[in-house]
Amino acid sequence: STTPITARAHTNIALVKYWGKADEHLMLPTNDSISLTLDQFFSTNTVQFDPRLTVDEINLDGISLPADGQQRIRQFMDLVRQRARQTMFAHITTTNQVPTAAGLASSASGFAALAGAAAKAAGLSTAPRDLSRLARRGSGSASRSIFGGFVQWHAGHNDETSFAEPIVEAVDWPIRMIAVVVSRQKKKISSRVGMKASQQSPYFQDWVRLANANIAPMTAALLKKDINQVGRIAEHNAMSMHATTLSATPPFTYFNADTLRVFDIVGDLRSEGVNCYYTMDAGPNVKVICEDQDVETVLGRLRPEFGPNNLVVAKPGPGLTYR
Ligand code: DP6
Repeated sequence: STTPITARAHTNIALVKYWGKADEHLMLPTNDSISLTLDQFFSTNTVQFDPRLTVDEINLDGISLPADGQQRIRQFMDLVRQRARQTMFAHITTTNQVPTAAGLASSASGFAALAGAAAKAAGLSTAPRDLSRLARRGSGSASRSIFGGFVQWHAGHNDETSFAEPIVEAVDWPIRMIAVVVSRQKKKISSRVGMKASQQSPYFQDWVRLANANIAPMTAALLKKDINQVGRIAEHNAMSMHATTLSATPPFTYFNADTLRVFDIVGDLRSEGVNCYYTMDAGPNVKVICEDQDVETVLGRLRPEFGPNNLVVAKPGPGLTYR
């Protein structure tokens, strides 16, 4: 069998969301997106090809993986085998380092780490751009977790041209994301299913136009380290994405009552002069965007409502590394 290869990748939260596929097989998105890779949450993955195996052996470090998750990993590994022109199956071990039930999606860090480990183990290119293109095939948002800091995923128009690239890899700005864990339950509607439903919304094309129009101003705001511009654009972008769920048939939403309470609190803080904003993904947990200097004020307001164990402060984090 081959030497075991271990890679680590951190999760990322989008400031301009990926929400919609132009090509489901190639995993080409309908629009560009921008994210921040976080330091607190990461996945570590080890891949070892073994000629004695008759199927990929997937070990999720005690965490049980639903059947559709297993299927996605096997399909991803089939792609790796096809590219490397080899037929061996692999031992795949993943561990997710997510602070006690932070309830954050791990598919971005998980597939980025798997892409890194599998590509190197199979002798494929480990150039970051190629890893980003490969990770994309596992989960779209994983394309961005190859890089640290602020990252842009270029939608592109084919396999070659759809990859992520850093905007600022080593972030010299105390921007923070506070994850507010309002629910520890597994999400009811996966991103994959949710975005497909949203694509039937009559507003979907408007969403794509808005997201693409957010890219240049968001990039400028990140380079200027302008928390209010970054926050305003991110918040508006996220709410516009979620508008496509309510206008789908049948309608659905990722919001719950606690989600709305967080929005309220952030709104109140802002009217008191605190520079904080929110964003949200395919689940009810909210991420509050602010600067280091305002973290304590924001936590002070959220703690009595949600408890200290449900608040996790994250900083900008690094890209993929081999161990
Ligand atoms: C709301 O990357 O999880 O978090 O490509 O189908 O695996 P698939 O979806 P995924 O979707 C992420 C959606 C999002 C926004 C974002 O991360 O940009």
